[in-house]
Amino acid sequence: MKILVTGGAGFIGSNFVRMVLSEHKDIHVVNIDKLTYAGNLENLQGFLEHPNHRFVRGDICDGSLIARLIDEHKFDAIVNFAAESHVDRSLVDADVFIETNVKGTLTLLKAALDKKVPRFIQVSTDEVYGSLGPQGLFTELSPIQPNSPYSASKASSDHLVRAFGHSFGLNTNITRCSNNYGEYQFPEKMIPLMIHNALNDKPLPVYGDGLYVRDWLYVYDHCTAIWKVLTAGRPGEVYNIGGNNEKTNLEVVGLILDRLKKPKTLIRHVTDRPGHDRRYAIDSGKTMRELGWKPSVTFEQGILKTIDWYLANAAWLNHVVSGQYQSYYQSMYANR
Ligand code: NAD
Ligand code: TYD
Repeated sequence: MKILVTGGAGFIGSNFVRMVLSEHKDIHVVNIDKLTYAGNLENLQGFLEHPNHRFVRGDICDGSLIARLIDEHKFDAIVNFAAESHVDRSLVDADVFIETNVKGTLTLLKAALDKKVPRFIQVSTDEVYGSLGPQGLFTELSPIQPNSPYSASKASSDHLVRAFGHSFGLNTNITRCSNNYGEYQFPEKMIPLMIHNALNDKPLPVYGDGLYVRDWLYVYDHCTAIWKVLTAGRPGEVYNIGGNNEKTNLEVVGLILDRLKKPKTLIRHVTDRPGHDRRYAIDSGKTMRELGWKPSVTFEQGILKTIDWYLANAAWLNHVVSGQYQSYYQSMYANR
């Protein structure tokens, strides 16, 4: 099988490429990534030169490049990870979110249809469902009610994927997962940001009261679920993927501080994020029943693996927080 993976130098995409190349024989991956601030070839260490992997630096909005790649490789499937992925950045400037997440996805869909690519997997998010109260879970039938520019852009691309399936018969699936954590996550997202700050004895900026709830999914488990969808998903279906690990942000930060033997006095409650979704929780029953998927670790196991990975990969972390990251951190956190 030959697949076009987009965004494969980012956090989840690189973990997916690594999993596919290590665990599945005879899979050829062409990996297109624009290498934005979030894309990093070091995320592919050990796999960049793999004989079944070819990296192409490029933009998913570039229709002629996508068409050329499809002509050259005759892909069996496209798996679309490429996106602008951070809520906080979308609150500052939404334009690039529309460009990549909406127009980029449309470009891929048009090329897939035109060139008759047999499968199209859209990697989406539970954030398209909006926010939950204290009870209940998102199912695949929950209404789409995105609250941030990021989630609105992802919901828009999901609707386009659905429409291309409905109107033109493109064989699509949409996956909607909860918050991922694990190796190679850029330290703008909560878990790696808190690990990095704790390691450097810097304050841990907890938004608002810190009682916001997320369901945490270990990135490897997300990747195995996407593989199941790619190889066995029913045409046109949406699959929710969650870790069944609901935690408040303060609980997560507490676990990180305990593991790193750092004091709770590092916690700083800072001005909240505008429109902050209170709770996400996901029902993965359909994915588990239909595709035989289940997560391999509990949150307590996964977070220890993750912290240990960041400890063992100080060079990677130091590299990604050098330069541009410092001005990003200043602009986001200096005045809260
Ligand atoms: P990421 O920000 O780490 O990586 C995104 C990658 O896409 C980067 O390598 C970047 O260079 C690339 N990219 C951005 N714009 C591009 C463009 N125009 N053309 C080609 N490449 C481009 O994101 P991630 O956390 O790995 O997320 C991957 C996907 O999973 C995204 O679609 C995101 O919406 C979704 N998702 C992520 C999470 C999470 O917790 N991280 C949760 C739910 C869904
Ligand atoms: P994040 O990792 O940005 O993911 P998302 O917003 O997509 O869920 O944030 C996870 C949770 O952590 C969310 O409730 C916001 C909170 N948070 C903080 O409290 N401090 C931070 O510095 C960051 C980045 C997030």
